[in-house]
Amino acid sequence: MTNMAILLSGRGSNMLALAQRCAQGDLEAKICFVASDKKDAYGIMMAKSLGLKTLLLPYEEGKEQAEKVLDEKLQSDSVDWIVLAGFMRMLSPTFVGKYEKRIVNIHPSLLPSFPGTQAIKDAFEYGVKVTGVTVHLVDEKMDHGPILSQREVRICDEDTLESLEEKIHAIEHDLYWQTLKNLFAGRFKMKGRRMTIEGPY
Ligand code: GAR
Repeated sequence: MTNMAILLSGRGSNMLALAQRCAQGDLEAKICFVASDKKDAYGIMMAKSLGLKTLLLPYEEGKEQAEKVLDEKLQSDSVDWIVLAGFMRMLSPTFVGKYEKRIVNIHPSLLPSFPGTQAIKDAFEYGVKVTGVTVHLVDEKMDHGPILSQREVRICDEDTLESLEEKIHAIEHDLYWQTLKNLFAGRFKMKGRRMTIEGPY
């Protein structure tokens, strides 16, 4: 069984989707705890109501202290993977270096297009015809690192920002657990810059 910790800052729909897949046995992993930089994050309330352990990261005491608290908890719970699900903070290069290739992120665009905190809006306002979702390993840059999976979403003339958000989130909730399942099973291999997957996807 793989041990994971989920980090979030907001409403936690990706955390919920992953928790449901774990509960159904589709994703053979244990959520050791759900951590947030925001004490009033809706995702933290939801995690509590699911009976998951939660952790508040004390960013008001500085990034170093917040990451120290996180690091201690990761070690005491023997966490294998750190899963970012709408965590709107940059982890320090020191932290990322310590957990190299053990941090994974989901982002609501086809990276490297539209990194940042409002990717769906940015893509919609730019007027692109195709956007999507990316799951990637985390390096020290924002929304950057080896890409594990991507799925495209077409933007139709009838779409509004709200309808696009809905489409993107539906894809996220499907793509994240499937990608994590392959990742936890050790099926991704690095070939040059490209992460390839062994066997049927
Ligand atoms: C998701 O769309 C996720 O891809 C995005 O935050 C949202 C969190 O939603 N992450 C980023 O933008 C990372 N740069 P959720 O709290 O409902 O899971």
